Amino acid sequence: MELRLTSDEVIKLKEREDIYSALKRAGIYLVASCGGKGTCGKCKVKIVEGECDVISYGKLTQKERESNIILACQSIPKSDVLVEILKESRLVVGDKIAIARTKDLVEYLKSYGVDINPAVKRIYIELPPPTISDNISDLERLKRTLNEKGLRNMRFSHGFVSTMAEILRSSNWNVELTYLNGEGVSGEAIFLTDPESCNRRHGIAVDIGTTTVVVYLANLSTGEIVDIGSTYNSQMRYGDDVITRIVYATEGGGLNELRDAVVTDINTIVNSLMERHSIEACEIDTATIAGNTTMSHIFWGLNPGSIREEPYIPTLNHFPQWKGGTAKLSINPQSPVYTVPCVASYVGGDIAAGVLASKMHRNPEIALFMDIGTNGEIAIGNNEWLMTAACSMGPCFEGSGVRCGMRATSGAVESVKIDPETYEPAINVIGGGHPMGICGSGMIDSISEMFLTGVIDQKGKFVKGKTDRIRQGEEGLEFVLYRDEAHNKDIVLTEVDVENIIRAKAALYAGIKTLLSEVGFTMDAIEKVYIAGGFGNYINVERAIILGMLPDIPKERFVFMGNTSITGAYLCLLSEELRREAEDIASKMTYIELSVYRSFMDEYMSALFLPHTDMSQFPTVASRLK
Ligand code: FES
Repeated sequence: MELRLTSDEVIKLKEREDIYSALKRAGIYLVASCGGKGTCGKCKVKIVEGECDVISYGKLTQKERESNIILACQSIPKSDVLVEILKESRLVVGDKIAIARTKDLVEYLKSYGVDINPAVKRIYIELPPPTISDNISDLERLKRTLNEKGLRNMRFSHGFVSTMAEILRSSNWNVELTYLNGEGVSGEAIFLTDPESCNRRHGIAVDIGTTTVVVYLANLSTGEIVDIGSTYNSQMRYGDDVITRIVYATEGGGLNELRDAVVTDINTIVNSLMERHSIEACEIDTATIAGNTTMSHIFWGLNPGSIREEPYIPTLNHFPQWKGGTAKLSINPQSPVYTVPCVASYVGGDIAAGVLASKMHRNPEIALFMDIGTNGEIAIGNNEWLMTAACSMGPCFEGSGVRCGMRATSGAVESVKIDPETYEPAINVIGGGHPMGICGSGMIDSISEMFLTGVIDQKGKFVKGKTDRIRQGEEGLEFVLYRDEAHNKDIVLTEVDVENIIRAKAALYAGIKTLLSEVGFTMDAIEKVYIAGGFGNYINVERAIILGMLPDIPKERFVFMGNTSITGAYLCLLSEELRREAEDIASKMTYIELSVYRSFMDEYMSALFLPHTDMSQFPTVASRLK
């Protein structure tokens, strides 16, 4: 049997294979938030011809079913089928992946008072060729010259010596030695290269996000970014969030598959960057990886199972150095691969890198760092102390668990303004044109606007009769943000969606309050708020305060940092001193497990209102409501 696509691809089907699996096998990825379990309702396709055994229609509406729309993961073809993949179901690299501003990064690094000084160094050496009278071994010859240059007691691995003789001779005894921590006594020789053919020094900084993978290719001599690349993390096809991936890695036995997926992503980017700039693998001397604890474990091929089981203990927080070849990266196989250390199961190397990038650990003012995604990771502190916690916000701000939710890519409603007289919404769509769904920032805008205009009450319940945009939908009351009669697909926010979003914002706010009260501070003590992560870039602070998601403190205290994980990875790549600082940050941070704090639950319950049950915590919102 065959699965044909309206875009002309043809896939031979295996026995009783569902459409989602067949597409995945052919390298065509659908949005699959639940990893193919039939619960997210995102993998929609339209059957144009042929018949399927439909196991479940999941969240599909009656109208969608009548239009022959099915869930790919729940549908097994019974005959040859012709299928159209709906635009919103196809996983594409988004045009809104946040990349930190790269051109000022060298200056930014220098603002730490350090120079470009990667842990991996290179030295040019000329060896006297051996003769009958000077007949010591190749390695003794190399050691003798290194001693003369002050590089003593260096270690030489088998990988190093196995290629040494050939390179020494082919380069006529003039070589470049790449080595690690060579000053003093404990250096390690990494590899030899011929300066004629391999004289440029590069490194890669990698951010392994749950959703995206970002790579910076940097010149290790100047610190300049040569190029950047990014893609969706292909582990997405196994599920959207870390928990689904952990389950797949452990119960599904898919650890190697997940590891291969992300390593392939990194290599695809690195290979294309090398090709674009005519760089050889031997010219990439090192790599630095930052990711959350689960992503770091999977990259290392470590079973992440214990991360999700009480008492939530990771296998490693501080990772030993690895070699490019062992990690299967397409860089020099001998190159050291450094992983930014993690703090706890749900506070990873991306947060240690982020705190490093924010500089909050160097300043006396009390600052709050937050990375908002499926998990809200929070760090509070200054140059004397750092505390951290993570709260589960659910995937709604990333587009899942919300009826018309989608990621912040083309076609997503990203901002909303509701006319207080007519209740007509004015929407902005990413990329312009026809809206296909609503992303996190659009949700924050919509709910704060619905609250200010009285469409919903403090509990997030719709006020019936307020406007004819409130209607009865298949899942209860809903507000129509955009009427789309032509495509038969209105963009709505349901009462259940509002409830999910309120729960997510309540978890974040309660996390911040609990962490602060642990150290005896209140919200007013926060002098700076650093917001990291792609989603953070598009948050309208004022609206997020109205929602009760962010503390009601002056707007000028909020700083949007973009992808701080990749910035921190870059800093660790280019400076040995800053790498040590990242290690220090991770060791110094005190992690608190919010789920065991009774006060967290109390704070959470109080925050399940708009903006909060205690309006004195939101004075600017209270004054707007008067
Ligand atoms: Fe098919 Fe979630 S419903 S992947």
